[in-house]
Amino acid sequence: MKPRKREGYEGTGPGAITPDGCAVELYARLPVGDEPDVIAAAVPAGARVLELGSGVGRVTHALLERGFTVTAVDESAEMLERVRGARTVRAPIEELRLDETFDVVLLASFLVHAGDPEVRRGLLRTCVRHLAEGGCVLIQREGEDHHTDVPRERVDPAGFTVRIVSAEPVGDGVHAVHAEYAFPDAVWTQTFRSRPLTRERFEEALEEEGLRVDRYLTQDGMWVRAVAATAGD
Ligand SMILES: C[S@@+](CC[C@H](N)C(=O)[O-])C[C@H]1O[C@@H](n2cnc3c(N)ncnc32)[C@H](O)[C@@H]1O
Repeated sequence: MKPRKREGYEGTGPGAITPDGCAVELYARLPVGDEPDVIAAAVPAGARVLELGSGVGRVTHALLERGFTVTAVDESAEMLERVRGARTVRAPIEELRLDETFDVVLLASFLVHAGDPEVRRGLLRTCVRHLAEGGCVLIQREGEDHHTDVPRERVDPAGFTVRIVSAEPVGDGVHAVHAEYAFPDAVWTQTFRSRPLTRERFEEALEEEGLRVDRYLTQDGMWVRAVAATAGD
């Protein structure tokens, strides 16, 4: 059964399109960046990682190479088919109920900016539900100018151009963001909903679900290590 398209999310491009508008075939061509280094520096060696919204395994594979054990979760079967060497679980993150906990729960790719606050709460509750005692949640959030420095584009050395074409308000503090990934032979376009969160608002959202920021991992504030609010008290 195909998962339902998420409201406000659209994608065009060759092959399968995920409910949040990703073109799987083109997503599979994206190289990994510094994400595995940021993650590896923030968690114990060999940790058990629950990766939420893993996609094709772009980050998963690099984490496996570094000796982590990864359970990769995604609602797209077509994405998960491309993950190698990790346990995969197909589910909406909000509904995930594995009967186990993990040293590290990873919520990357700006998913915490979900337009619908109920979805965001569901994502964070899943993080908390699967967090082992003494463990941490690593979250990737948007940079300060994500919605204001628009349009912008970046030419990737791997041979494609990423454009953030527009970010338009659609009410209730949410933006419809339109992005394009242009490869020489194909284009993927994605429209998605994103709720800008100031640092303060982001921290409040975590607190609402029983998490607190332990520390910001990168200068730009985009990678965050969070722990259970009760940890270390
Ligand atoms: C932009 S891709 C990022 C993939 C991966 N994190 C990476 O950095 O390469 C987002 C992925 O998250 C999945 N996804 C988004 N929201 C989800 C949700 N609520 N539940 C399960 N999967 C979700 C999509 O299917 C897609 O594969």
